[in-house]
Amino acid sequence: MSFHPIEQAPGRLNRSELAVPGSQPQMFEKAADSDADVIFLDLEDAVAPDEKLQARKNIIKALNEIDWGKKSMSIRINGLDTHYMYRDVVDIVEQAGERLDLIMIPKVGTAADVYAVDMLLTQVEDATGLKKRIGFEHIIETALGMQNVHEIAAASKRNESLHFGVADYAASMRARTTVIGGVNEHYSVLTDPDGDGNRQTHWGDMWHYAISRMVVAARANGLRPLDGPFGDFSDPDGFKAAAYRAAVIGCEGKWAIHPSQIALANEVMSPSKDEVDRAERILKAMAEAEAAGKGAVSLDGRLIDYASIRQAEVLVEKAKQISAG
Ligand code: GLV
Ligand code: MG
Repeated sequence: MSFHPIEQAPGRLNRSELAVPGSQPQMFEKAADSDADVIFLDLEDAVAPDEKLQARKNIIKALNEIDWGKKSMSIRINGLDTHYMYRDVVDIVEQAGERLDLIMIPKVGTAADVYAVDMLLTQVEDATGLKKRIGFEHIIETALGMQNVHEIAAASKRNESLHFGVADYAASMRARTTVIGGVNEHYSVLTDPDGDGNRQTHWGDMWHYAISRMVVAARANGLRPLDGPFGDFSDPDGFKAAAYRAAVIGCEGKWAIHPSQIALANEVMSPSKDEVDRAERILKAMAEAEAAGKGAVSLDGRLIDYASIRQAEVLVEKAKQISAG
């Protein structure tokens, strides 16, 4: 290991993160009864300008009055380039800060953006005498944010997670798509003709680089990486495929922009019984190998070594975290 220690963010369960518009209070109770691990009450892009002030009031009331159970509660504030953002923080933290675990900062572009919200929030927390420190979730969804993702990830002790905001990211990159997440038939390669002259189109994942880059920044700074929205809520298979491809490269969770996506995200982001069983077998085999003075052995015809212990521990720890709720 490097001499540089990586401090891990609080181990919060974050397989699913449900987006709920702050302007739709009739949706709050259902969200509170759902199986989402984290809920963010939105003040930003799901709320029209005329509804911003009412949405803020709705959220304050809901945080104070609704029983959200063991869920982690977040608010997505408006961007730092708007005149709403400071009151989103001041009013909600002053009036409902006790039940707020996280603040989600959209379109974060630089480490200084994080510093600015940290400074404001610290003043409000100190003035109101809040004991618990509210954490930060950052949406990486602009070219600037992606360029500075490493500095953003390291910019505050409050940082807990990075989220890939595919919709705004696509817009910021001027990508030729109008869907939210998912695949694009034009991001593909055509194979050379085989012996019969047949060619195949192999679709790729146009977001692979962006998510991978964000995952590196998150993990190098002890934060949780999460994949953002998948807009087609009538396509559960597409959602699961998108979630799996994020999970296998290290994402811990995915957004649900519709209640039907919560169970899908929880399922995909929880290691399966088979995965956990195999991880436990690896740990057992390596413990036996070590007792016999060996650093590497074979299991089911494959090499395992000390790196396998670290891989297996990730899965076993995740399974424990999930069963502890
Ligand atoms: C989320 O905010 C996104 O833009 O995808
Ligand atoms: Mg966005």
